[in-house]
Amino acid sequence: MSVEPAAVEDVAAGLRAAGYLPGESTALVAFLATRLGKPILVEGPAGVGKTELAKAMATYLERTLVRLQCYEGLDEAKALYEWNYRKQLLRIQTEADDAGWSEVQDDIFGEEFLLERPLMTAIASPEPVVLLIDEIDKTDQEFEAMLLELLSDFQISIPELGRIEARTHPVVLLTSNNTRELTEALKRRCLYLWLDYPSSEHELEIVRLHAPELPDTVTTRLVEIVQMVRELDLKKPPSIAESIDWARALLLLGAQDIDAETFRSTLSLIVKHRTDLDLVAERVGVRLGVPAT
Ligand SMILES: Nc1ncnc2c1ncn2[C@@H]1O[C@H](COP(=O)(O)OP(=O)(O)O)[C@@H](O)[C@H]1O
Ligand SMILES: [Mg+2]
Repeated sequence: MSVEPAAVEDVAAGLRAAGYLPGESTALVAFLATRLGKPILVEGPAGVGKTELAKAMATYLERTLVRLQCYEGLDEAKALYEWNYRKQLLRIQTEADDAGWSEVQDDIFGEEFLLERPLMTAIASPEPVVLLIDEIDKTDQEFEAMLLELLSDFQISIPELGRIEARTHPVVLLTSNNTRELTEALKRRCLYLWLDYPSSEHELEIVRLHAPELPDTVTTRLVEIVQMVRELDLKKPPSIAESIDWARALLLLGAQDIDAETFRSTLSLIVKHRTDLDLVAERVGVRLGVPAT
């Protein structure tokens, strides 16, 4: 049996127990999605916890996570299902001599010859799952339209086989890094959750969770600096993922403080563009006492 939350607080506590510290609206939207049976569209910059939210939801709800990683050119054969040609061919070869074509055809278009891809797996699963459709903005609008149909009917039509209807409804999370505008039709169907860079307090909590052994003075300083760096006009501002990496690196290095020298030597953990590096070294480094080069 999977978990059914009774209140927003249940979801908040459940996600925390799964190692995810939800922000203000996250638990609310997740609760509503589970109860209303609507997909969540999670949008925001890279590294702010979109994918992790889906994983934590699956852990909390005690459901299997089925993940479809989107990429440019992703098609139905890789997302829904595909016929297992090799197996079909083998069957044809073994039957060829003594069976007529119509018998063979009936044979080779059965479920046994179907290769399930993530969307099909989620629909056909006898136990309800959490379906993560990750980075939907990487696909094209055609794919989005197909998905829309799936998300409204929870069924898949296979010409040779008929309709496969969902036995259980998955909790669906779609994520987008906002590299292109998604269609209104898709947005209308979903509950919307915008995840942004966290507040200082929230980030402090997250970093503490991921690097509990780091001295608290260092963690506090780290978050202060990261927040300062995000204020600059960078190509790629550091995300939560970078804060966590930096904290773990400082822990390994046994840092007791983030002084100018430590900052300079570990800067590349949070800033990963040549021009950004220069800017940060100049603007933040100076404040920490690094001589500008
Ligand atoms: N609210 C949160 N609580 C705990 N960990 C978080 C939270 N948000 C982000 N993280 C951590 O930050 C990292 C990046 O998150 P991820 O979900 O991969 O980002 P995204 O999918 O948005 O690019 C992961 O290691 C994740 O555990
Ligand atoms: Mg992600």
